[in-house]
Parts: sequence; C-alpha cells; structure tokens
Amino acid sequence: MDSNATTPLLPEVLGAMSPFFTQSFGNASSIHHYGQQARGAVERARESVARLFSCRAAEVVFTSGGTESDNLALFGTLNPGDHAITSTIEHHAVLNAFKALQSQGIDVSYVEVDSRGVVEPNVIRRAMQPNTKLISVMMANNETGVLQPVKEIGVIAKEASVVFHTDAVQAAGKVPIDVNEIGCHLLSISGHKMHAPQGIGALYVRKGTLLRPMMVGGNHERQRRAGTENLPGIVGLGKAADIAMDALANGSIHRIAAMRDRLEDGIFGKIDDTGLNGQGAPRVPNTTNIHIDHIEGEALIIALDLKGLAVSTGAACSSGAIEPSHVLTAMKLPSAQARSSIRFSLGKHNSESDVDFALSILPETVARLRELSPVYNKKAALSC
Ligand SMILES: Cc1ncc(COP(=O)(O)O)c(C=O)c1O
Repeated sequence: MDSNATTPLLPEVLGAMSPFFTQSFGNASSIHHYGQQARGAVERARESVARLFSCRAAEVVFTSGGTESDNLALFGTLNPGDHAITSTIEHHAVLNAFKALQSQGIDVSYVEVDSRGVVEPNVIRRAMQPNTKLISVMMANNETGVLQPVKEIGVIAKEASVVFHTDAVQAAGKVPIDVNEIGCHLLSISGHKMHAPQGIGALYVRKGTLLRPMMVGGNHERQRRAGTENLPGIVGLGKAADIAMDALANGSIHRIAAMRDRLEDGIFGKIDDTGLNGQGAPRVPNTTNIHIDHIEGEALIIALDLKGLAVSTGAACSSGAIEPSHVLTAMKLPSAQARSSIRFSLGKHNSESDVDFALSILPETVARLRELSPVYNKKAALSC
C-alpha cells in the first residue's frame, strides 16, 4: 500500500515495451527503417501522453522522470533577478530546485497552506510582485493526496501574465488532467507513479513558453531536452497513459477510492486516538494519511513490514534524527502527531483482501507499540 512511492509495471505496459528492447531497437534519429520504427513509436506515445494532458503532441517533452521535469520547468524559466512563488508543501524535487535557484539570485516566496494542507489562492495573489515570473504549485500532494486549487491559481497566473508550473506527478492517472482548464504553461508527470517504468517522465510545455534546455547536445525533443530518447520507457509511458485514460473514463478508479475509504473507516473505528491529515480537503482517490497517536510512525512501519504490509511515513532521516514531515509540519500538525503519521497509498494491484489484511493486523500492532510508549502508559495509568 505504497503506490505513491512507486507502482508495479502493468503486464500490458511490459508487453508494449518488450519489442523495443530487442527487435525494434533503433535510434529514433536514424534515417533507416529501424530508426523510423523507433520514431513512429515515440510519436505514437507522445500522442497518448498528449491525450492524457488534453494538449497537442508537440507540447510534450519526454524526460527521465518527475524530478527532471520539475527541474527543467524551473531552471528553464527563471533568470537571476526574477521572483517566483511556490508552496511549503511541494516535493523536494521542487523545493530543492528552488533552493539552488535562490543561490543563483532568484527570489523565492514560499506560501503557507491551511490546516487541511491546501494552498489558498488569495495567498498566492498577495505574494505577487512586479518581477514575479513563475508560480509553481503542485496538483496533488504526495503525502496527503490533497488536491490543490490549480484552476484558481491558473487564473491568477493568467491575469498577471506569469508562467504557471504544476507538479502533477501524484495526480496523473488518479484525476483527469486538462492543461487548458488548469491554465498551466508547464506540467510534470512521472512514469513510475502510473505503472510505467522508473526513469521516464514528461513535461507539458505550452506552445510559446520560453524554456531553456538543461541538457544540451543533439536536436532531440525540439531542442528542449537533448539525448537519445529512452525508447522502451517512452513506449511504456504512452501505454500507461492510455490505460490511465481508460480507468478514468470507465470509473474503475472508484474501486480504489472505495477500498481507501473502507480502510480509513476501519482504522478510525478500530483504533482510538487516530485522525485524518487533510480532513475536509478534496483528495486523490488512493491516498490516506493518518496520525495514530502515541506511537512513532517509523516503528509502526517496520512492525507492519515484518507482517507483510508496506506503507510509509513522510518523515525523513537527517543527521541521525528523524525529522517530522515538512508537509504535516506546514499543516501545523503538532510534532508528536506528525511523527505518528503514516501514509497508505493504494493502487490497481490492491484488492479488498489487502484491506482486510491491513485492518486485521493494525489494531494489535498499534496496541503493542503503545504498550512500549512511556507517555501513553503514563496517560493510561492516570486514567485508571
Ligand atoms: C509530487 C512529486 N513530485 C516529484 C516526484 C519525483 O518524481 P521521480 O521519482 O520520477 O523523479 C515525486 C516522487 O515521489 C513526487 O511525489
């Protein structure tokens, strides 16, 4: 139950990719028929990704993943002296890119979120400056699944003629994406979050948006990203985009939402002192982030892993100490609750029996960890 970290390659995606490792292995820049077969496959995949974005095929640039797409969007747009606006809950692919840009003379405003983890559009409006060149706000948060008001932010960007980038890595395949409705100029996705392989991604670049390449070399990707195309990866991303579109159109995504909701209800019903992080905010259908008070999230994850359930925390280990998640901290969750939070993110491969299994092992595992918690035991003793 850790699909926001990565997802398994679907058999259909592997099937579509396979011939491009061995038989049709050409370089898409070659003139001979091997090259032309490869070029045809790259362009068909570009059309599939364009359908996922509701854009023109020429506006899709293939990259090595979400991190590269985010970096290309930001480094490719900003120059020293520019001002940019982002939020405190972005993925580190965005936050650390901005940190690097700050050292190059770009001024960055980090806007706060409300307690639900939502970026309030008016906060963006208030952060605007005469030299604001770019706004970057994610479409869905990776830790909480909370959807951001990207359409409203797109309107603000349009009014001020500012470039709008959105990191849609955790939205792709989970909610429809329409770049014209969002009004963005740049949008990032990553293959491995949507059942394509690791190491492939794409950036939507609206026609007319000036973008300086980060990789220079040949004329690949209309001079926006040099380097021989990752042919099997691109074919896999195209196939995964087709499958994601079908799942959104035929409603099968609701099956995942129903499992997620049953998991949540089960946890709240069976375990005391728990709560949803992101309560009241719109969320992608597969993610739930829950604080299970009086335990350490890391300890719970290890205990659950030993029993066969893989989940995660947003916590990061830095210099030997476990730091609470920057997302939950930005939502003003008390530090102890942030440390006790875990994320379940479901996918196509999960079944109702996985939910049953999680609900069967969670209460006893939490109870055992709480028994070891001095704070909890003191509280329990006092209430006796
Ligand atoms: C919101 C978000 N952006 C960017 C990334 C980075 O994507 P990739 O792993 O493809 O580099 C991730 C990965 O977890 C993510 O969740």
